[in-house]
Amino acid sequence: MTQGSTAAEPITAIEREALERLTTVADEGALEGWFREYLGRKEGRLNALLRGLGALPQEERPRFGAAVNAAKERVTAAYEERKGTLGAAALGARLAGDAIDITLPGRPVPQGTLHPTTLMIRELSAIFALLGFQTIEGPEVEETRYNFDLLNIPTNHPARDEWDTFYIGSRGADDTVNEMVLRTHTSPMQARTMLAQEPPVRVIVPGRCYRYEATDASHEAIFFQLEGLAVDRKITMADLKGTLTAMSRQLFGSDTRVRFRCDFFPFVEPGVDFSATCAVCGGKGCRVCKGTGWLELGGAGMVHPNVLRNVGYDPARYSGFAFGLGIERIVMIKYGIDDIRNFYGNDLRFLEEFAGTRI
Ligand code: DAH
Repeated sequence: MTQGSTAAEPITAIEREALERLTTVADEGALEGWFREYLGRKEGRLNALLRGLGALPQEERPRFGAAVNAAKERVTAAYEERKGTLGAAALGARLAGDAIDITLPGRPVPQGTLHPTTLMIRELSAIFALLGFQTIEGPEVEETRYNFDLLNIPTNHPARDEWDTFYIGSRGADDTVNEMVLRTHTSPMQARTMLAQEPPVRVIVPGRCYRYEATDASHEAIFFQLEGLAVDRKITMADLKGTLTAMSRQLFGSDTRVRFRCDFFPFVEPGVDFSATCAVCGGKGCRVCKGTGWLELGGAGMVHPNVLRNVGYDPARYSGFAFGLGIERIVMIKYGIDDIRNFYGNDLRFLEEFAGTRI
């Protein structure tokens, strides 16, 4: 190897041989062997040429080195291409022999639906948000202080018997003051809210309540209420009626009217029960409203001065209204459901009825 022209000959020969043999390589294993032989870092024949570089005359070395590298590049490009083809073929073969058909559509993932109570809470929250009410929540395990005392229902007062209560033990030494209960209504959040802030107050409180009573088509031991409370200067019964009318029209249609009748609740004065014109017959009388034209929705009234005083509000300065309604009852009226026990029966046929309802 004394001349530049002859020094390049082995390069061309090795390159040609490598490219020829590459076309006969049939699988990935053979391709690996081929790679080691021609392109391998240690025993590869093209790299071996570079190791002979030192034996060449000084002036031939750069050209020879460049020629080897150019050949390596071409052979490497051919190798990459072959590897791609073999890889795709191998994958194809593997898929063909595989038990899984990747072209099959996937199995549908079962999708749950929102519970009708959840849907109604969301609908009511949206309605009251438009009227300026904030939605808040409170504890289901409650102190008698909030569930009764602060709401003007003193210990040993017969009014306490109105709420069939789950008593669940006491906190602290004095049982009568610190007894714990499962809240029998959402009204305790009236007291908690007013103790925590100054007027103006405008909140609704949806939440689970508990009563120690036998179940039937319209009573469950566990049920949901929605409490409403507004306290400010100069709040009147007209505000209460306007608010409940707006709510009822959003729920049942724009012709709906609202009626108040006298009722007693210790935390309001005057107290009322309120009804909306029957959503089914429009007030003419039908089976759903038992011929009366009215559907009872809940209790309400003007916040009792004693309650305002209990939370540190001055009744001479502030007034307010409160109301409470049963959430399941609204769902039952709106969707024609005749048994409250459906709500907790876990019967998918019932729950899936609400699959398409969007709020
Ligand atoms: N908490 C009452 C109950 O469970 C319902 C109620 C009546 C709530 C009148 C009120 C109200 O806020 O003003 O029977």
